[in-house]
Amino acid sequence: MKMVQINGFQMAFEDHGKGIPLLLIHGYPLHHKIWEPQIQQLSRVARVIAPDLRGHGASDPLPGSYSITFHADDCAALLDHLQIKRPIIICGLSMGGYISMAFCRQYAARLAGIILVSTRARADSPEEKKNRELAASQVQTTGVGSIVSSMLTKLLSPQTIKDHPPLKKQLEEIMKNISPETVVSDLHGMMDRPDSLDTLRRVSLPALLIHGREDALIPLEEVQVMQAAMENSRLHVISAAGHLPNLEQSVQFNQIIHTYLEGFPHV
Ligand code: MLT
Repeated sequence: MKMVQINGFQMAFEDHGKGIPLLLIHGYPLHHKIWEPQIQQLSRVARVIAPDLRGHGASDPLPGSYSITFHADDCAALLDHLQIKRPIIICGLSMGGYISMAFCRQYAARLAGIILVSTRARADSPEEKKNRELAASQVQTTGVGSIVSSMLTKLLSPQTIKDHPPLKKQLEEIMKNISPETVVSDLHGMMDRPDSLDTLRRVSLPALLIHGREDALIPLEEVQVMQAAMENSRLHVISAAGHLPNLEQSVQFNQIIHTYLEGFPHV
């Protein structure tokens, strides 16, 4: 794990392999470890960079809400630090997808392709915002336990939980160690994010959408809306997976990305 001082904090990140840069952005309330199978396998064909977002994993926290835009700015600053000038492929999962869409809005010229995993384009509904506020006040009074237990039941498909008990344990470990401040900052950042459908309509880069058929957090219909908006996109639905297809079906997931990467020169 490497560290860099950017935008007022120490950001931790993994950086492995050579070739086209593939920036992997984790979701909430997780950190870069969810990309372990991708870091291991895809770094044979690409330069895989996987940061811990501010406040997550080994990256320092900062006070205030973590707007999705701040995270996109942090990713751009990391690329500057690594002196990466060539266009990259960004790959974001769930909240990481919201960040990838924000990155697309602000740094389109830095992108060669975009991979959106288990995510949606629309903003939160008023009811979802209210639920995030409720979750945030519960975390402020009782800690992250409520988030850990509710997310644990939603991240993995029932079949994955049955077949791979260590995966559930691993996710529990990651989530147990997140601070209440970071959870609250994430919740506020996500509830304030704008709708990104217009951003996607403007994307002509090759886009890949990957979704677990049993995702309990984001229904497939939401991804189909994104695909319809993007002129140059392909959607892969992975059957035996929930919200984390990269972990639940890592071989199939990596194969899909591997094939996508072959479409780019000088991989
Ligand atoms: C995530 O997995 O990153 C979040 O659950 C997304 C969300 O809550 O909107």
